[in-house]
Amino acid sequence: MANAGKNDRWNANLYDEKHSFVSHFGEDLVELLAPKKDEKILDLGCGTGDLASRLHQMGVKILGIDKSENMVRQAQIKYPGIPFQVQDAMTMSIQDEFDAVFSNATLHWVKSPKQAIQGIYDALIKGGRFVAEFGGKGNVQIITDEIIHQLGEFGIAFKPEQFPWYYPSIGEYSTLMEQVGFRVTFARHFDRPTPLIGENGLRNWIEMFAVSLFEGVTTEIQELVINKVEETLKSVLFKKSGEWTADYKRIRVVGIKE
Ligand code: BEZ
Repeated sequence: MANAGKNDRWNANLYDEKHSFVSHFGEDLVELLAPKKDEKILDLGCGTGDLASRLHQMGVKILGIDKSENMVRQAQIKYPGIPFQVQDAMTMSIQDEFDAVFSNATLHWVKSPKQAIQGIYDALIKGGRFVAEFGGKGNVQIITDEIIHQLGEFGIAFKPEQFPWYYPSIGEYSTLMEQVGFRVTFARHFDRPTPLIGENGLRNWIEMFAVSLFEGVTTEIQELVINKVEETLKSVLFKKSGEWTADYKRIRVVGIKE
């Protein structure tokens, strides 16, 4: 998760109310992790703690960390028996401590991936594993292309540095992992059409996750742009069943510290 302290823009209640699919989809990543009782596992980007709680129930000694104070506070309230800390993947400094580092839907926010992978590598014991899922190349591109296009229609030039995500291919990410010292034992890039609940699902998603695309744009223009995005994408992403579907593309990787 992104942006701690005064600039923490994460609304943990809204996240739990409207975006709980994020941890729901992480359930089968837990299967890939295959945790064993009493293993020490770091949940990197734990959000409001749902998957950390699941791992805790499985007998894992879990530590959840997140860059967002709001998320960590909410996790502590929901799961008082589990340790959660505010820590940034970019600056964490843990040495040879964990059997596994687990990360769901977080690493696409980390725009200096090699530094984060190095921190993860350092945090693992020899033979420890890194199991992660996050947005891969082409993730939500239909949505973000349309937002950028509509901003242009309103005369607003989009600056690439405003793009808040890093969406690598598995070739690119596996290479970085290997450079740091991991043996990559699994890598997959797949489509994950993701329902965004309700008629306002697309708008809610944009307002929760994509606000930095609108930096410097007035609320009025933002509203007009989102209206236009909804109008244009309705025939592509709005299903007859009455909900929006986001064009998620995920990557999953597993690496062993050798
Ligand atoms: C994702 O899980 O792929 C994602 C979530 C929020 C914003 C962008 C991507």
